[in-house]
Amino acid sequence: MLTVDLGPRSYQVRLGELSGLGRAWPLDVQRCVLVSNDRVAPLHGSVAEASLRGAGLRVDRIDLPDGEDRKTLETWRALVEGLLELEVDRSTALVALGGGVTCDIVGFAAATTLRGLPFVSCPTSLLAMVDASVGGKTGVNTAAGKNLVGAFHQPSLVHVALDTLSTLDDAEYRCGLGEVVKHAVLADAGFFAWLEHNHEGVLRREPGCVSHIVERCCAIKASFVAEDELEQGRRALLNCGHTIGHAIEGVLGFGCIRHGEAVGIGLVAEAQIAVLRGEAQPRLGHRIEGLLEALGLPIRVQASAEDLVQACRLDKKRRHGMVRVAYPVDIGRVRFAEVSQAELKGAAQAVSKEQ
Ligand SMILES: NC(=O)c1ccc[n+]([C@@H]2O[C@H](COP(=O)([O-])OP(=O)(O)OC[C@H]3O[C@@H](n4cnc5c(N)ncnc54)[C@H](O)[C@@H]3O)[C@@H](O)[C@H]2O)c1
Ligand SMILES: [Zn+2]
Repeated sequence: MLTVDLGPRSYQVRLGELSGLGRAWPLDVQRCVLVSNDRVAPLHGSVAEASLRGAGLRVDRIDLPDGEDRKTLETWRALVEGLLELEVDRSTALVALGGGVTCDIVGFAAATTLRGLPFVSCPTSLLAMVDASVGGKTGVNTAAGKNLVGAFHQPSLVHVALDTLSTLDDAEYRCGLGEVVKHAVLADAGFFAWLEHNHEGVLRREPGCVSHIVERCCAIKASFVAEDELEQGRRALLNCGHTIGHAIEGVLGFGCIRHGEAVGIGLVAEAQIAVLRGEAQPRLGHRIEGLLEALGLPIRVQASAEDLVQACRLDKKRRHGMVRVAYPVDIGRVRFAEVSQAELKGAAQAVSKEQ
């Protein structure tokens, strides 16, 4: 059990089984709406519903269409209208059961319906467990880009149902591991070394390994969020690997590479920025590559360095032609600084298969 320390908005992240979702219910509400998606609901919806009913709650259910391409204003709108048809009031909690897409949309509906409903997150993908479920960022995508419409709305509880991972496919699991490596590079050299030693157990999803990585990642993310809830400073370090990672997603086209894979390659590239600046030895990049490969993640991309640099120029954190990048300078240490086009090109060349 872990607390995300945000004063009056503090909440707990607890690891357990899905059947424990309704236990030790932290909210003084009698009613909830369990919102899942049409892939996860048939697998896990009934156990979640039974647990909530067992806690004495009235439960209604709504299922969203599955997929990143359905993380839209239309899906949000249909959800909000469905909630209003159910005549929810401010003492109705929304419970999200699904991956990061579901948690983000349901969180945004919770932030906006009746100007704010209590929200419980029950992440079922590794990526949502180690990243999306903690921190209160909610939102949807639009034609102009990913996550451009949203709100900060902290959950009242994150219940990580580790047993739901048994139905997650390998590709999605590995995608979550990309963000796990990011957390280790960002803030915890000991955890990075642990991953190097335990990569086989992690890939086999040994329960002890899985709960350790979820615990470590949630603790790391919680510490950054607690210091900087609204991302005005330190929280931006959580974006390490993401400047080049987003550029890779943009160049290849969303859907052609998984987010966690792109972030892993982004970490390798961005380590090169520190090397070019004389702030790190080449070994930094080699160690990150070694761990990613051991975890079955790619370390190179079929895109030209030139195209990747062009894509970085669209980055939200750009100012006066310089892009602000959170790049690793050591295992466990990241720096946030302005980076020139030439440095970005050097970084991109380190991972580009097309020279
Ligand atoms: N809010 C944040 O701070 C934050 C942080 C990181 C990522 N995100 C967002 O998270 C999203 C990515 O999350 P994701 O990778 O979980 O994607 P996702 O929600 O699309 O899940 C991937 C796929 O796995 C399925 N799935 C989930 N759990 C399953 C299970 N237990 N068994 C079988 N199938 C299961 C999903 O239905 C989906 O088809 C992106 O939209 C990203 O923007 C948000
Ligand atoms: Zn990410």
